[in-house]
Amino acid sequence: MTLTETSLDRRTYILGMGAYLPEKIMTNEEWGQYVDTSDEWITARTGIKRRRIAAANETTVDLALAAARRALKQANVRPQELEEIIVATDTPEVSVPDTAAFVQHGLGAREIPAYDLASSGCAGFIQALDVARARICFGVGPILVIGVELVSRLINWHDRNTCILFGDAAAAFVVGAESGQAEILSAVAGTDGSKAGILMIEVGGTRHPVDAESVQNESHKSIAMNGREVFKEAVRRMSEAALSVLAKAGFSIHDVDLIIPHQANLRIIEAVGKSLGVTPEKVYVNIQEYGNTGSASVPLALWEAHQRGLVKPGDLVLLTSFGAGFHWAAALLRF
Ligand code: ACO
Repeated sequence: MTLTETSLDRRTYILGMGAYLPEKIMTNEEWGQYVDTSDEWITARTGIKRRRIAAANETTVDLALAAARRALKQANVRPQELEEIIVATDTPEVSVPDTAAFVQHGLGAREIPAYDLASSGCAGFIQALDVARARICFGVGPILVIGVELVSRLINWHDRNTCILFGDAAAAFVVGAESGQAEILSAVAGTDGSKAGILMIEVGGTRHPVDAESVQNESHKSIAMNGREVFKEAVRRMSEAALSVLAKAGFSIHDVDLIIPHQANLRIIEAVGKSLGVTPEKVYVNIQEYGNTGSASVPLALWEAHQRGLVKPGDLVLLTSFGAGFHWAAALLRF
């Protein structure tokens, strides 16, 4: 096939979705054992009530595999049929190699390309979906795209500014060129690296390798975050990405049936809805149940909304996300 034939003519579909949530539920009150906080503060500032915490014997790959198997089952695709695997995560199984290598082996997939889209914060899954879409245009597919975070094991449980925000989860889509549950009509993504320092774990790379001091003070687990700046940028970038992905596909915000924003903070989600001029019913929220699940947040929310019957055939669904980097990404789906 020539480039023109392949890249312009293939439509991309979500063939199946799946998710996995660890069993253990941790309430806001329970955080009081570790830091000076309260249910009132966490609820008022973030909207979070509970989050899931992975069991001691679970790792990132366990979460990823559970979500992947469910997505494959729904898509009616066998692991051996997969042609590529992309894992979006900030909380990998090991430092090297990437989580995707373990997922490929764990699923019993063929010796296909498998790689991580790592450390791009909460925008990783939609970025990965955008990459998968491009790969499908080049004749690859079906592709497994996973968003997974086991944040609870890698954060500093004594930093109240960040520890209460996150939760563990995994969600996966199988994407292909045949007709499926939903067509991916368009996608956009962007980066502003000048803001990298506003949300960062500095220790653990070449700039500042983990040493005895960082282990002692847990700085290798500490997220340096200017919450207010992240808040402002998240609202601006998620709203802009949403409008830009709509414009790219020739739609307006009034055509959208449901918006699935990254679940970082209820006030951020509400501000995005307001800035887009939509009613709250059009914006899906599940942050109260799971907290911020990073790369898993958007696919988990879409999977859940679909399971609950809130997405019907013909619906136009908008996904929009923002994370460390800063990175942002949005996608438009027709169910
Ligand atoms: N419990 C009680 N008090 C707390 C807690 C806590 N868990 N955390 C911080 N505080 C205190 C601080 O010490 C500070 O006290 P001080 O005023 O005496 O210094 C005060 O609360 C902070 O108040 P504000 O700055 O007014 O808090 P704000 O309303 O900005 O909320 C928050 C903070 C929740 C972090 C908010 O800024 C936010 O959500 N920002 C976005 C951050 C985010 O989502 N990060 C996740 C990763 S990125 C992403 O997913 C997009």
